[in-house]
Formats: sequence, structure tokens, C-alpha cells
Amino acid sequence: MNRRIGVAVLGLGWMGQSHARSMLRIPSLFPKRSFDPVLVVCADTEEERRERAVRDFGFERAVADWREAIDSDDVDVVWVTAPNMLHIPMIEAACAAGKAVFSEKPIGGKPEQTVAAYQAATAAGVRSAVGYNYLWAPLVLHARNLIASGALGDITHYRGRFVSMYGSDELGLLTWRFILDQAGYGVTSDILSHSVSLAQFLVGDITEVVGMRNTTIPQRPLPTGAASHYGRGRPEDPKGDVENEDFASMLCTFENGATGTFEVSRTMVGPESQNAFEVYGTKGALAWNLEKMNELQYYKLTDDPSSGYTTIFGGERFPFHGVFSPGQANPIGLEDLVAIEDYSFLEAVATDAPFSPSFREAVDVVNVQQALIESWDSRTWENVVDLAGGSDGK
Ligand SMILES: NC(=O)c1ccc[n+]([C@@H]2O[C@H](COP(=O)([O-])OP(=O)(O)OC[C@H]3O[C@@H](n4cnc5c(N)ncnc54)[C@H](O)[C@@H]3O)[C@@H](O)[C@H]2O)c1
Repeated sequence: MNRRIGVAVLGLGWMGQSHARSMLRIPSLFPKRSFDPVLVVCADTEEERRERAVRDFGFERAVADWREAIDSDDVDVVWVTAPNMLHIPMIEAACAAGKAVFSEKPIGGKPEQTVAAYQAATAAGVRSAVGYNYLWAPLVLHARNLIASGALGDITHYRGRFVSMYGSDELGLLTWRFILDQAGYGVTSDILSHSVSLAQFLVGDITEVVGMRNTTIPQRPLPTGAASHYGRGRPEDPKGDVENEDFASMLCTFENGATGTFEVSRTMVGPESQNAFEVYGTKGALAWNLEKMNELQYYKLTDDPSSGYTTIFGGERFPFHGVFSPGQANPIGLEDLVAIEDYSFLEAVATDAPFSPSFREAVDVVNVQQALIESWDSRTWENVVDLAGGSDGK
């Protein structure tokens, strides 16, 4: 018999809605599962979102105080999908209550906060997960298998970038993402976390870095109401300071000797959501870009003069793809990755199996971020050190 797993979602914005929809879809997508997710309680400070939680998503109840949601006896797993600065108190309370916890990235907004979350989960012995959803893209999983099989030979270079336009409009509101107390760092917390988690998933640990940052749009119109990503002010509106970085770049060395370059931006005009990587080896290369999520470019070194990059289309022959679309080259979408990660985490919870990426992998990511931050001031190469002191946890 499937195990009933009661779910609490803390914050019903973009990602809270996405995870809540995943819970609703899991039974029909994954008939062979060990659990049945139940949307027990949603916490959100906005009344309209609480109403939607019950009316449109089918949560049994919605509350304004997230502590009440965590303390509910019928909740087994807590999803932390509120703005970054709420992650740590929510995670610490969930761990103290003995609940398994899934946190959206970046887990707090500063490296030390991610480490605190990891330590709380380790001390409480609860299972944890972090929302690096791109690791679950079927063609990214295939890329990892190809690299591990030696198909690319020895990896010599990795190029990672996440160039998004979500902050490119200078009239875009000064929402929580641009404020140090609420978001922590800027693009290095928000989207470099995706790029570094992908790189470490595909190629291995990063050992040293050097980099730079810039804040391209220093002031933005002040928000009114519960605007998240999409609010827009008027030129005459009062403005406030952007307190964290819009752009960052990084050179790095991987443990296996490969070199790497990274670029992340929320203000460049042009690339709309270019979360992309290129991996180069002695026998071949791979390239993937979220904007064309259902395509993987593969170059195989041969003597054939007609050699060149081949496009591999997504399809049911790759992990998880057939859950959503049968056959070949029938595309899947971003929320499908969220459904895969939620299913995989809940399956691990239900069967007491190991799960990755957990808070441990999130610490591996912020170890790199911390070295980058130090290099901004020292203006030199910095070694990546384990901020959690090498402890493994659960
Ligand atoms: N994995 C990804 O690709 C991805 C994508 C987007 C966002 N995120 C992460 O998800 C988190 C949320 O981002 P978002 O874009 O969904 O934000 P959002 O602003 O759309 O939603 C945040 C929600 O939290 C609610 N909230 C605010 N304060 C609260 C409180 N005290 N108690 C309960 N609810 C509260 C807000 O009312 C809102 O509904 C962030 O940490 C972000 O980094 C991850």
C-alpha cells in the first residue's frame, strides 16, 4: 500500500504553485509509486493566494502563519518556496519538528545560511532536498551518463552561463530579489547556483575560482503590493537602491584538472533564459541550453570530413521523458522537471532511500560561491573550502 505523505507548501508564488501542481500531477504521471501526496496546508501572507490554494489547488486548508503549517500533525514534508530570507527560519522550524524538507534554491541568500540549513537538517536527522530542477532534465541526465561513460574522453573545459532577462527592464520593480536583507546576494545566489550545481553534477567539484561582479541597474522603482517577478513601475515613481549584483563572471579549475568559465546576468538584453553549458573533452563535446531544452548537441571526434555537431532530440529513450510525452522529439516543459524532482524526493522519503541533490549538494555549491565572493575583494584566485567542515550528514 502506498504511504500517505502530507505536504505543506510555504509560499504560493511562482515555485509554490509549480510544486503544488506537481503534487496534483504525480499520481497520474507516476502510477508505480510508493506514496500518495496529499496537499494538506498552504501558508502565504497574501489572502488572495490562500484563497487560491484551497479553491484552485485543493489544499485542505490555508493559513497566514507558516509556523502553524509546519506544526500540523498531518504534515510529513515541508516545501519551502517563500523568498530567500525566510528559508532558514522555515527550514530550522521544519527540522526541529522532525519533518523532511525540500527547499527552493538558493537556501537562504548567503553561503553561511545554506550551511546553517544543512547543519539543522543533519542535527535533526531529517531528509532534505534542494530545487536544482535543471539537474532533472532528461537530456541533462543523458549528458551526465555520456560523460561518465567516457564518450567525451577526458574533460578539458566547461563553459556555464545563466543569462536571464528578468531584471533587464530598468522600470522593473525593486522586489525582494534586489534587496540584501531579503534575497542575500544577487545573481550569484539566484542563478549561479543553478550553473554551478549543473557543472558539479556533470564534471565534478570545483577547487579554485576568480571572478568579478557588477550592478548594472543601480536603482529601481519601489514596489506596491505583492509584486514578484513581473511588476513594472513608471519613470516618475520613487526609486530605491539595488543592493546586490546583477552580473557575475568566474574562471575556475575543477578537481579533475578541467578549466571552467561562467557568466550569469539578470540584466543583459537579448538572452531570455539562457541557462546553458558546453562541455569539451578530448574525444567530443556536448552543448545544452534551457531555451532549447529538448535538444542536446553532441560532437564526436572522427576522421570523417562530414563530422560536426549532431542534434539529439528529447524522447522516451531518455530518463523520465516518456512519463510526459511518448515517442521521440515530442517536447516536455519546465514544470515537468519540477514534477520529476518532487516525485524523486517523495519516492526517496517513502522508501527511505538516499536522495541527491540534498542540502549537502547545496553546500557544495555555496562553497564555490563563497570563494567567488572572496575573490571580488582580494581580486585574486581563491581556493574552494568546505564551509561545513567536511561533514557528510544525511
Ligand atoms: N528552481 C527554480 O528554478 C526557481 C525559480 C524561481 C524561484 N525559485 C526560488 O523559489 C523561491 C520563491 O521564489 P518565487 O519566484 O516563487 O517568489 P514569489 O515572489 O513568486 O513567491 C513568494 C511567495 O511567498 C509568499 N510569502 C512572502 N512572505 C511570506 C511569509 N512570511 N509566509 C508565507 N508566505 C510568504 C508571497 O506572498 C508569495 O506568494 C526563491 O527562493 C527563489 O530563489 C526557484
